[in-house]
Amino acid sequence: MRTQVGIIGAGPAGLMLAHLLHLRGIETVILESRQREAIESTIRAGILEQSTVDLMVETGVGERLKREGVPHHGTILRFGGRNHRIDFQGLTGGRVTTLYPQHEVLKDLIAARLQVGGEIRFGTKVTAVSGLDSKQPVIHFIGADAADSRLHCDFILGCDGAYGVGRAAMPDGLRQDYQRIYPFGWFGILCKAPPSSEELVYARHDRGFALISNRTPDVQRMYFQCDPNDKIENWSDDRIWSELQARVQGGDGFRLIEGEIFQRNIVPMRSYVCEPMQHGRLFLAGDAAHTVPPTGAKGLNLAISDVFLLDRALGHHYATGATDLLDGYSAAALRRVWRAQHFSWWMTSMLHRADGASAFDDRRQLAELDLVTGTVAAATSLAQNYVGLPFG
Ligand code: DHB
Repeated sequence: MRTQVGIIGAGPAGLMLAHLLHLRGIETVILESRQREAIESTIRAGILEQSTVDLMVETGVGERLKREGVPHHGTILRFGGRNHRIDFQGLTGGRVTTLYPQHEVLKDLIAARLQVGGEIRFGTKVTAVSGLDSKQPVIHFIGADAADSRLHCDFILGCDGAYGVGRAAMPDGLRQDYQRIYPFGWFGILCKAPPSSEELVYARHDRGFALISNRTPDVQRMYFQCDPNDKIENWSDDRIWSELQARVQGGDGFRLIEGEIFQRNIVPMRSYVCEPMQHGRLFLAGDAAHTVPPTGAKGLNLAISDVFLLDRALGHHYATGATDLLDGYSAAALRRVWRAQHFSWWMTSMLHRADGASAFDDRRQLAELDLVTGTVAAATSLAQNYVGLPFG
């Protein structure tokens, strides 16, 4: 089998890249280990940056997003028992974020691909890549029919996440790993209840961080900082609610509206970057190249900004034969990746309480939050980073 660009992974990076390249007339095949139903029902992040929304709308996959996505014009930082609002729209010249869950983005991208006859091979296990230094690299895979097969292509795109073949194929002598593991995780729930707040609430409390987000008018998403080694079974519904209520409690009487909890998970937190993001004809995008802690909701958006650059670089190459943008991809992508790494680390460290934090640490954190919510300069910096820096 042969194609121009072989893509490993049908997540946000792989699907968006295939869509963008199709608009340029460049052919792709996506190999994906999971089944379509699994991809379309796995609950992940929910916040889209302005540039992600713009790209989806401008390239014809934003119809449902425009109808069903909920714009968020600001966010709440809650500390000292009361709300402090950051006005994204006012501080960034009109830019906002949009709440539209990742699996809905994936549904729209998969539908768009299949509608134009694009090829996504679900249930396909990629085993290796070879010929990365040649002009005809090869992806080796076991198809849904259990037969060994090969996909010959001009370029290979590793969009296959943190544990995929793409990252593992970066040669040891070349690859540098930058990593930070945090001593906490997020306990996440989905519950059937009306929203407790119109805008997201990022709450800092002496008991630890909590985040109040939502999904639909009837389903809410909430998280609280926990021990990353904790077990879901240790948390009864009553215990979950009393912990969440304690962390948002304050003099203003704010209370969460409780409801039936129907999903629970524990998310570990780490920061990771693989450098460079390219070797020969292999290019990495999205989680294959980097991980951010969830605070600030940058993961999905970084995947989209990586493939924005790749689409431009591959388009330029197929149109002119030039390789300058492809050669510059890693450096260009990494600059934005590190900005998002810094932002996600900063939001995490400002809002979470480390075990053994001293009274000094607590006061310093509160002073930082006071700065961010009390000065236009610091609030603007948070708002600009949160709604997202330009892709290009
Ligand atoms: C959500 C997740 C995040 O990491 C975040 O910063 C905001 C919202 C969410 O799942 O809704």
